[in-house]
Amino acid sequence: MEKPLKKKKMKGRIVMTWLWIVGVAATSVKSDYYSDSVPHEPKREKETHLHFFIHDIITGKNPTALKVAQANLTGIDTNPTGPTPFGSTFVVDDPLTTGPDPTSEVIGNAQGAYVSSSQGKDVVLVLYLDFGFTTGKFNGSSISVFSRNPITEPERELAVVGGRGKFRMARGFAKLKTYSVNPTLGNAVVEYHVTVLHY
Ligand SMILES: *[C@@H]1O[C@H](CO)[C@@H](O)[C@H](O)[C@H]1NC(C)=O
Ligand SMILES: *[C@@H]1O[C@H](CO)[C@@H](O)[C@H](O)[C@H]1NC(C)=O
Repeated sequence: MEKPLKKKKMKGRIVMTWLWIVGVAATSVKSDYYSDSVPHEPKREKETHLHFFIHDIITGKNPTALKVAQANLTGIDTNPTGPTPFGSTFVVDDPLTTGPDPTSEVIGNAQGAYVSSSQGKDVVLVLYLDFGFTTGKFNGSSISVFSRNPITEPERELAVVGGRGKFRMARGFAKLKTYSVNPTLGNAVVEYHVTVLHY
């Protein structure tokens, strides 16, 4: 008498499980790709200041920025000479250090790209860079920078438009000053003072 009862129970359980699976599948098929929009509870933001130097080497034995594309500028009168003519595109993995000396402590790297974007006589690089940190409190975190950078001006400002890790939802700005530059080779050391608001 006992055995058939157990079998019935088992069967019941299997049916229940199937119903549950089918139910879940049905809801996930029906569900939208977005949630309800609810009011965002603002959290108190933190402000962090960062200070470092970037080393951008485009000419030499161990370049940190590689030209990957360049327009055919034959006969075009927009800054065709120089290391970064209009239209040239670079892919970047520049070290970030605590001091201007390249042998000072490396604290991260800036990866991404920049594009020489000015048709005028000035040199403007538009930066699409992710500044990632590899040491200290912000190891593994990064800030996203997207801005034009008129590199011949002594002081520039870049927009920080986001971030990862501890810099999630970041916004802010970076103040830049060229520390040293070789205008022929295009190699430069630039000092960054960054103000970041983040959670
Ligand atoms: C570059 O442009 C010039 C002028 O239009 C043309 O004569 C030349 O063939 C082009 N060179 C290349 C490599 O496309
Ligand atoms: C930074 O984080 C990575 C990944 O978690 C870890 O392997 C590395 O040792 C850390 N470096 C420092 C200097 O803390």
